[in-house]
Amino acid sequence: MLTSEAVLNALRQVMDPDLHQDLVSLGMIKDLKIDGEQVSFTIELTTPSCPLKSKIENDARQAVLSMTEAKVVQINTSARVRTPKPLTIDENQFKHVIAVGSGKGGVGKSTVAVNLAVALASDGAKVGLLDADIYGPNIPRMLGIDRLPDSQTSGKIPLAEAYGMKVMSIGFLVQNGQPLIWRGPMLHSAIQQFITDFDWGDLDYFIVDLPPGTGDVQLSLSQTLPLTGAVIVTTPQQVAVDDASRAVAMFEKLEVPVLGIVENMSYLNLPDGSKLAVFGEGGGEHLAFRTGTTFLGRIPLDPEIGKSGDFGSPIVLLDRNNPSAEALREVACKVAAEASIKAHEREVLE
Ligand SMILES: Nc1ncnc2c1ncn2[C@@H]1O[C@H](COP(=O)(O)OP(=O)(O)O)[C@@H](O)[C@H]1O
Ligand SMILES: [Mg+2]
Repeated sequence: MLTSEAVLNALRQVMDPDLHQDLVSLGMIKDLKIDGEQVSFTIELTTPSCPLKSKIENDARQAVLSMTEAKVVQINTSARVRTPKPLTIDENQFKHVIAVGSGKGGVGKSTVAVNLAVALASDGAKVGLLDADIYGPNIPRMLGIDRLPDSQTSGKIPLAEAYGMKVMSIGFLVQNGQPLIWRGPMLHSAIQQFITDFDWGDLDYFIVDLPPGTGDVQLSLSQTLPLTGAVIVTTPQQVAVDDASRAVAMFEKLEVPVLGIVENMSYLNLPDGSKLAVFGEGGGEHLAFRTGTTFLGRIPLDPEIGKSGDFGSPIVLLDRNNPSAEALREVACKVAAEASIKAHEREVLE
């Protein structure tokens, strides 16, 4: 006779490869039902963008089928993004706050932030995107939106919406082409208001596109919200890597964990199938190694990425077979996995 206990024992042999613990101890097995020789259950993943979903599912299936009494296994998957301490700000609740930063401008930080946010949202997560780049608030163009919706009510201010996520940009507040010259305290209270006065609601991932460098916005954000971590974008060139390394050092000083390094504009895919390393090779990976952080992946230099940004249609949604879209989706999955790992580490420590 098959018992729940026996099935759970079998599933104790299956590890979550990111969290290095078994599915049962992690509380990921739900709705276990046994009907004669049939076993069904749900695996509750820690993010809907789980890169290891099919591996975990296969391993669980094998483990249960290795019991001679089990003949049919039906597995559903669901996701609950875990957070060690849900962060509540008035009525808004954020499970993970992830900042996207860089040392230099123009390395593709906003491109990565937008595609990361859209990829997570399209996997079913609740996502908010805050464009806090006071020097170049480019998110509105990259998403094809240009202002906040009109609001008559006196409560929280409604946000712009695009591709299934809520969006606020510092760019909505300034006239086109006008530079922002907020400094220190004014900037700090602006950042706080973007977080508290707007109707973000409950979010799995709150993604913040930072200005380049190591300045006031980074400081204000880290003082206002406990960040799950920062994603650092660089190109392969040594000058970009040098500046990215300063950004890593700054986040460490602010006690913000670095989730990893993304190398953008890594290579050009040539028509003959080869890759041309236009800006040199290995810069991002080397930086990850040197700073003891995770290398989150390479994104090709691709005119389609530039175009999709200009036209407000994020490339991750464009084409399932596009290698650039694929690379950006992989980065999003890795970031989600790193966030789950950070949440799990803190759960274990507390
Ligand atoms: N991998 C890429 N291939 C081609 N163009 C890119 C790539 N990444 C970014 N771009 C383009 O380069 C410009 C700068 O990117 P952006 O994301 O705005 O950088 P940042 O936010 O770091 O200043 C944009 O026009 C963007 O569309
Ligand atoms: Mg930008």
